[in-house]
Amino acid sequence: MARWPKPPEGSWTEHYPELGTEPVSYEDSISPELYDLEREAIFKRGWLNVGRVELLPKNGSYFTKEIHIAKTSVIVLRDRSGQVRAFHNICRHRGNKLVWNDFPNEETSGTCRQFTCKYHAWRYDLDGSLNFVQQEGEFFNLDKNDYGLVPVHCDVWQGFIFINLAKEPEQQLSDFLGPMITSIEGYPFDKMTERWYYRSEIKANWKLYMDAFQEFYHAPILHARQSPAKFANSAQQAGFEAPHYRIDGPHRLVSTAGIRAWELEQDLRKPIEEITRSGLFGPWDIPDLGIEKMPAGINPAGCDPWGLDSFQLFPNFTILIWGQGWYLTYHYWPTAYNSHIFEGTLYFMPAKTPRERVAHELTALSFKEFGLQDANTLEATQTMMESRVVDRFPLGDQEVLCRHLHKETADWIEKYRRERAGA
Ligand code: FES
Ligand SMILES: [Fe+2]
Repeated sequence: MARWPKPPEGSWTEHYPELGTEPVSYEDSISPELYDLEREAIFKRGWLNVGRVELLPKNGSYFTKEIHIAKTSVIVLRDRSGQVRAFHNICRHRGNKLVWNDFPNEETSGTCRQFTCKYHAWRYDLDGSLNFVQQEGEFFNLDKNDYGLVPVHCDVWQGFIFINLAKEPEQQLSDFLGPMITSIEGYPFDKMTERWYYRSEIKANWKLYMDAFQEFYHAPILHARQSPAKFANSAQQAGFEAPHYRIDGPHRLVSTAGIRAWELEQDLRKPIEEITRSGLFGPWDIPDLGIEKMPAGINPAGCDPWGLDSFQLFPNFTILIWGQGWYLTYHYWPTAYNSHIFEGTLYFMPAKTPRERVAHELTALSFKEFGLQDANTLEATQTMMESRVVDRFPLGDQEVLCRHLHKETADWIEKYRRERAGA
């Protein structure tokens, strides 16, 4: 059930009594056993975003996605009719990984008419059907119809491609997304095709990095040196308060006000920002988005100026829409209880002038600098959490979404355990 909290006394957390206000265990970020349970209870059951349709520009385009925690690799492709499909990346003959380039564990992409296995040249059509077997006559009653690629449930919402590794997903994608997420339908994601991509291995549990982007009040402290000293000092003294948090089913939202950087006193900006008319929040000049009005779900607190909305889709995907007319996605792909692969992708309206291109580049570089500071801290957090010297951590009201992520994770694991015990 969706709720729109507007707490009179400023407590977001108490609006969700099921979350409690007690200190929180982070055992889910340091336990190999719980990591194994997350595999079965969450990553083999939930809808996972693997990218956007622009990665599949024509029929026959494909890319592979390594889903380490689920111990599989998936081929995502556009078939001859233009439909987006997904298959497990395994040859039905003797189990070789079907699609890879120079290194079997690295993701790849391209365009083709069919897939040929590197081992004995079995060939598969783009619809997954097996259409060639080397020395077929030597096999015993082999019916090629029985040996197509193993399909993976796949659906597309607003150009975002989702897969579900369950035999039968418990919910359709649109039901899983729910009203808070679907209320951003109509944002011009399809027009923001200029893409900047960062990928990094982080030696911390995936949820710790999600937590770092679920509250922003650490920014004036952790990222103080990213801003001119005068700005950083006053920001630290003022503290930071986001105007809106919201929880809807397994998903979360934090919305924040912005600043008009160009209206600040000059010594509160960096010279490079002045020259490029850009910064972390994006280019100062908002492009024409080509829509009459913003979708209803965006900027729910009506901030003016509005900074950003960060929509966090359970389990491991974030869509962050900026008031300056661009958006970001984050993916957190677990590789072990204490490590994951982080992907940050920036999407802009394609630059029409060199000035716009440079403005995008400064935003992308600023994002990387901030992201590195966050990641660096997480590795320090992970190692000390593993000491188990402390086992409960107090979370403030602006950490309500962190509280929810860990509760949601525990709930999925609990549900899985109950079903397994009852089976
Ligand atoms: S394993 Fe693929 S053709 Fe033999
Ligand atoms: Fe940060």
